[in-house]
Amino acid sequence: MIYSKVIGIGSFVPERVLTNDELCGIVDTSDEWITSRTGIKERRIAEKGLTTSDIAAEAAKKAIELSGLNPQDVELILAGTITPDMIFPSTSCIVQEKLGLKNAAAFDISAGCSGFIYSLSVADSFIKSGKYKNVLVIGADLLSRITDYTDRSTCVLFGDGGGAVVLTANTENTRGILSTHMHSEGGHDDILMLKGGGSLMPASLESVNSREHYIKMKGSELFRYAVNYLKAVAEEAIEFNNLKAEDIDLFVPHQANIRIIEATAKKLRFPMEKVFINVEKYGNTSSGSIPIALDEAYKSGRLKEGSLVLIDAIGAGLTWASSIIRW
Ligand code: UT7
Repeated sequence: MIYSKVIGIGSFVPERVLTNDELCGIVDTSDEWITSRTGIKERRIAEKGLTTSDIAAEAAKKAIELSGLNPQDVELILAGTITPDMIFPSTSCIVQEKLGLKNAAAFDISAGCSGFIYSLSVADSFIKSGKYKNVLVIGADLLSRITDYTDRSTCVLFGDGGGAVVLTANTENTRGILSTHMHSEGGHDDILMLKGGGSLMPASLESVNSREHYIKMKGSELFRYAVNYLKAVAEEAIEFNNLKAEDIDLFVPHQANIRIIEATAKKLRFPMEKVFINVEKYGNTSSGSIPIALDEAYKSGRLKEGSLVLIDAIGAGLTWASSIIRW
């Protein structure tokens, strides 16, 4: 049996902090509303000129360094992102060039906030099939570039950042990715989408004036899907591995909203001490959310060698996914 073992991890968030108080000067909101409804206190915002590939490359560089691999050993780069530098070439190809990963194939995966777990799943399948041994998996988004700072129902939620892991084939023991599960349900454009800039609505004066190049979200509808689907996909992972909830050492959920995290943890009967939370610092960073959280959990000692970690996420599509990793 081949397992995909994590041998390197890294993350990067821009320096600039945007606090709830600052947002009160931009839209009609309050620190009290944002904190009580979302748990978010601040988020990071990329300065002008910084791109998703810059964030991805910074995170990936740290992950490769920690892995001890020679950059030439990376055979595949996968980047989960919905905010690529440009429509093409892919952000993965741009990262390849920035880091000199000359021997890798590279492509992006668009799966909303599930982008990192989807990418992890694809990477795991390539490793298990024997096609590749060393794969760089990135989740990075720069949501501030597609956030409408006149829309208080969305602009308080999002931030910028990314993370990356290096996976390698492991045949010696059971450390690595034990399972991944991915789901999609098209037909929910009305609750989460960015319509402008694609083939349906190419950029035009009209599309800019009607603010179609920004995220549109029906938050409370998405909230209901999130809690139910995240619970279901977490249970699917636990049952698939013949585990019980209490066997999981750390639950690292998508950091969208503290109320979604708490409601899901409650349904799964996870005590909050076993749940990793950093949504207060970064808000929702889409594909960046899980790898940033994993990196912080690892660096703070909450994720140790042999720990069983469960991750799950939901995003535009709808897409949702989970994975259990023996760290
Ligand atoms: O990453 C993909 C996954 N994303 C998510 O899962 C996001 C899911 N949704 C959410 O996190 C929550 O639905 C929100 C945080 C977006 C909103 O919380 P909510 O409890 O569902 O609030 P709501 O949308 O039902 O709005 C309640 C009220 C409304 O006022 P009325 O109509 O009751 O008078 C809104 O206009 O809160 C108002 N409101 C605000 N007030 C102050 C909405 N945004 C704000 C704001 N500040 N920023």
